[in-house]
Amino acid sequence: MSLHGKRILLIIGGGIAAYKSLDLIRRLKERGAEVRPIMTSAAEQFVTPLAVGALSASHVYTDLFSREDEQDVGHIRLARDCDLIVIAPATADLMAKMAHGLANDLASAVLLARDRPVLVAPAMNPRMWENPATARNVEQLTGDGIRFIGPMRGEMAESGEAGLGRMAEPLEIVAAVEAVFTPQHRPLAGRTAIVTSGPTHEPIDPVRYIANRSSGKQGHAIAAALARLGAEVTLVSGPVALRDPDCVHVVHVERAEEMRDAVLAHLPADIAVMVAAVADWRVASSAEQKIKKQPGEGPPVLQLTENPDILATVGHHANRPRLVVGFAAETQNVSANGRAKLERKGADLIVANDVSPETGIMGGEKNSVRLISRQGEENWPELSKAEVAERLAEKIAAMLG
Ligand SMILES: Cc1cc2nc3c(=O)[nH]c(=O)nc-3n(C[C@H](O)[C@H](O)[C@H](O)COP(=O)(O)O)c2cc1C
Repeated sequence: MSLHGKRILLIIGGGIAAYKSLDLIRRLKERGAEVRPIMTSAAEQFVTPLAVGALSASHVYTDLFSREDEQDVGHIRLARDCDLIVIAPATADLMAKMAHGLANDLASAVLLARDRPVLVAPAMNPRMWENPATARNVEQLTGDGIRFIGPMRGEMAESGEAGLGRMAEPLEIVAAVEAVFTPQHRPLAGRTAIVTSGPTHEPIDPVRYIANRSSGKQGHAIAAALARLGAEVTLVSGPVALRDPDCVHVVHVERAEEMRDAVLAHLPADIAVMVAAVADWRVASSAEQKIKKQPGEGPPVLQLTENPDILATVGHHANRPRLVVGFAAETQNVSANGRAKLERKGADLIVANDVSPETGIMGGEKNSVRLISRQGEENWPELSKAEVAERLAEKIAAMLG
């Protein structure tokens, strides 16, 4: 496949496999790609900017605080003026920084500022790869929609060790780059989807609010998975500590009423997946000023009122999407409650899960769900939230035919 005209931002990390990045540049350029390299300062210990610059026929960017580079393109434009970011070799350190949103050098700042897809080719000692910290970072990055090629099993360049940790060969990385640009399995192309995610915050006064433990991880992963299958996705997100998924239009809201308004403003749509943990109640009239503790007076009494039921509103709306999926977070009678919810809310599918504290699902990385529809029930094994999202997106595509 030709990569003609494709602009690749290649980040070279400080690993022994950096020498292979020289060959990678050649292979990408042979196929017509433009390669703009960034080297970490550790990478410069392994290969020289002179060699990288000569092979790529491009300026090599190394310093976040370079006045000339910042005036020339600047780190934000570097992050955006490309079609794909490839990290090869990706060190354990770079992946950790990316997973945690650090931005203290050019490579990590660019990665934090990006809105382009990223392909990571890890390379490290097998012990570093197997370390639970690295495993957690990989899981996080996968959930964030980052693609991986490798690592491969084999002999390490140094120390005679063998195992999982070798960087993929340059031609394998090129194939993964080509795959990113190859029209993919996109059964939802031409479909529109609305996804809600995260908790809502219901104000008590200007500084206090009622919230819940939802992290938004599952909803965000579903929005990203639907987008990968080709859907045009609007994600209406409550307050979460997650980055916006790539290739998804995100509307940020706080309260349930704002979430409902944002969802209704995006109808009609083909698909609605209501994952957010919307507060059932809000304070009937939240105070305009901070409620003060008055000596001698007891605690304030909060009068609660019901919040809009967004799933039911969408499920019974005149512009009802063809497929309405709701989530049911239950702590008991998961099946019966899920089935009742399916009927009451006018949904086609309920994804029910047991969020009792001992399951660790709320806020955690894993999910164990039961799919309830009028056709029957399906129990899925415990999966990562990213895997649940992938499977659910495929299921939605199949249901829409
Ligand atoms: C000889 C040598 C080889 C190294 N190889 C690797 C490697 O293959 N993978 C890795 O993650 N770190 C490796 N390191 C450690 C990284 O260079 C170090 O973590 C560095 O801070 C990474 O910086 P960077 O992520 O900014 O490139 C190596 C260090 C040395 C001294």
